[in-house]
Amino acid sequence: MSDLIRLEGINKYFGPQHALKDITCRVEKGEFVSILGPSGCGKTTLLRVLMGLEAPSSGKVYHRGEDITRQPPDKRGFSIVFQDYALFPHMTLYDNVAYGLKLKKMPAPEIRERVMNSLNTLKLGKSIDKYPSQLSGGMQQRAAIARSLVLGSDLMLLDEPFSALDAMVKVDLSGELKELQRQFGITMVMVTHDQEEAFMLSDRVFLMRQGAMVADATPRDLYRNASGDPFIHTFIVDQIDKRAKYILALNGTGGGVS
Ligand SMILES: Nc1ncnc2c1ncn2[C@@H]1O[C@H](COP(=O)(O)OP(=O)(O)OP(=O)(O)O)[C@@H](O)[C@H]1O
Ligand SMILES: [Mg+2]
Repeated sequence: MSDLIRLEGINKYFGPQHALKDITCRVEKGEFVSILGPSGCGKTTLLRVLMGLEAPSSGKVYHRGEDITRQPPDKRGFSIVFQDYALFPHMTLYDNVAYGLKLKKMPAPEIRERVMNSLNTLKLGKSIDKYPSQLSGGMQQRAAIARSLVLGSDLMLLDEPFSALDAMVKVDLSGELKELQRQFGITMVMVTHDQEEAFMLSDRVFLMRQGAMVADATPRDLYRNASGDPFIHTFIVDQIDKRAKYILALNGTGGGVS
């Protein structure tokens, strides 16, 4: 069985609010999966259940077939990238990336090699002595990804990793993330409310609405088979078509937009 992660019948209540409704899904090794949906639909809550930061009210989380529902985040060993980078401001880039390995008490030469590999991969090799405040937003998010990458974990969880970045940086960095995922075979689960981002990067999309998972499909199938479902049609097809028309209009050469 190649499932890296399996969620079975996950429910989460915050008081009376039913934030996750009977979520069952799986993530295969090496896949890029997006959790996509409008604001408040439960994306972050689902990711936090995966991370171990939130205990489900019912249901089970499995990692490589082992029940980890009650396991704390540090025992799971997943690497995590947040929207706001979460770098230590008083540490250089090098020390930020080395931090997790030092905690693991890895020998210094090995730390150096892994940190430099990771920073070079993210094109930050020349900035190792800089502090986060001396870096652009894009570089800070690169550093946060390098810090995750260096841990060598089998699952990287990302919560809206590009939403604080401007459009051009976003496109560059999302391309690099996909490249990393291919190159290192890392399994990635990314939360996003951005249809294009999800469609560009994902092998599979988990589409959520009001706490429920309403689709689990490849981007292509999601787009093609949306006609039977008004929510999917409005949230996916209308949004993407609107954007396509906008882009074609910008092109300005009369590409038959109607
Ligand atoms: N700790 C909490 N206590 C109470 N309610 C919560 C808590 N965390 C989340 N919720 C509620 O659960 C629902 C899902 O929230 P969640 O943050 O998972 O949504 P989201 O899809 O990530 O939204 P966004 O796109 O705005 O980040 C929301 O209605 C939210 O108000
Ligand atoms: Mg969220």
